[in-house]
Amino acid sequence: MIHISRRPRRNRKSSAVRDLVQETTLQVSDFILPMFIVDGTGQKSEVKSMPGIFRHSLDNLLEELKEVTDLGIRAIDLFPNYPESRKDRFASESYQEDTFYLKAITAIKEQFPELVIMTDVAMDPYSSDGHDGLVENGKIVNDATLDILSKMSVAQARAGADILGPSDMMDGRVGFIRRELDEAGFTDVSIMSYSAKYASAFYGPFRDALESAPKFGDKKTYQMNPANKREALLEARLDFEEGADMLMVKPALAYLDIIRLLDEHFNIPIAAYNVSGEYAMIKSAAMNGWLDGDRAMMEVLTSIRRAGAKCILTYFAKEAAEILNA
Ligand code: PBG
Repeated sequence: MIHISRRPRRNRKSSAVRDLVQETTLQVSDFILPMFIVDGTGQKSEVKSMPGIFRHSLDNLLEELKEVTDLGIRAIDLFPNYPESRKDRFASESYQEDTFYLKAITAIKEQFPELVIMTDVAMDPYSSDGHDGLVENGKIVNDATLDILSKMSVAQARAGADILGPSDMMDGRVGFIRRELDEAGFTDVSIMSYSAKYASAFYGPFRDALESAPKFGDKKTYQMNPANKREALLEARLDFEEGADMLMVKPALAYLDIIRLLDEHFNIPIAAYNVSGEYAMIKSAAMNGWLDGDRAMMEVLTSIRRAGAKCILTYFAKEAAEILNA
C-alpha cells in the first residue's frame, strides 16, 4: 500500500457520493426552447439539417406546446419563417399589425399565460436581402436600422412577448429599443441582448429553417470575429449600460471562455445559445452511431452551465427535460 493523503477518487466512489459533490446542476427551468413557426394550418415540416426539429403552423404549434409545457419547459423563443414573396428591403412585415407571427404570439399567450415567450429582434427573416440590418448600396447601415428594430420590438411587445432578443448586433440598439419600449408603456418587457454574437459557421441549419441566409456577402461587419475576446467585454458593457436585463453569448460551445468572462464581469444573468449547428453536430454523429447522443447532449448542456450561463437556449430542451424528469 502506498500512502497518498489526497485521493480525489474517494469523492467519486458511488453515485450518491458523486451527486453529493456535484458542483453544477441542470434544471428544466434553465431551458428556453427555440421554435419555428410558419403561416397556414396543418403544417409540420422537419428542418433537413436539424432532425427532430420542425416548422409548425400555429395549430400544430399549440399542440406541440402542450407536450413542451407538460415536460416542465417554461420558456420558448419563437422565430417566424416568411415566404420570399412577403419579404422586402425594409422588413416591413416585422412591424405591421396582425401578421401571422404577431397573432401567433397573442394566441399562445392566451392559451399558455404562464409560458415565457421570447422573440428575436433582427431584420433577417423579413428582409429580401437576408441581412439583420437595412442594406444601402451594398452596406448594412446602422442608424436607419435602429428605427426598424424598435418598431419591430414595440409590435412584438404589444402582441405579448415577455422577453425581446435583439440578435442584430447593430450599435446602440439596446438603448434605442429600451427607450421606445418604455415610451410605448412596455416597461415590463425584458431585453435579453445577444451581446457577444459571433460571425459563426454554426448558424447554417437555422438559416435553412427560416430560409433566411444572406443574399450577398456575410455578416462580418456586424457579428463579432471569433478570434476576439476583449471585444466581447465591450459589447457586453454597452448592452449592460443601455439597459439589457440579461446578456447572451452565442454560439455556446466554442465560446465557453466568453460565457465565463461575462459571468465574472457582470452581475446580471448570462444566457448562452446552444445554436443550430451545435445541435446538428451531435444529432448527426448520434444518428450514425458514432457517439451516444443523450450523453453528449447532457455533457454539453452541463458544460455550458459550468462555464457560467444561468439559462440555455437549446433545441435539445425537450430531450434533456425527458432525461431530467425520468
Ligand atoms: C437572426 C438569428 C440567427 C440565429 C438566431 N437569430 C442567425 C444569424 O444571425 O444568422 C441563429 C440561431 C441558431 O443557429 O440556432 N439574427
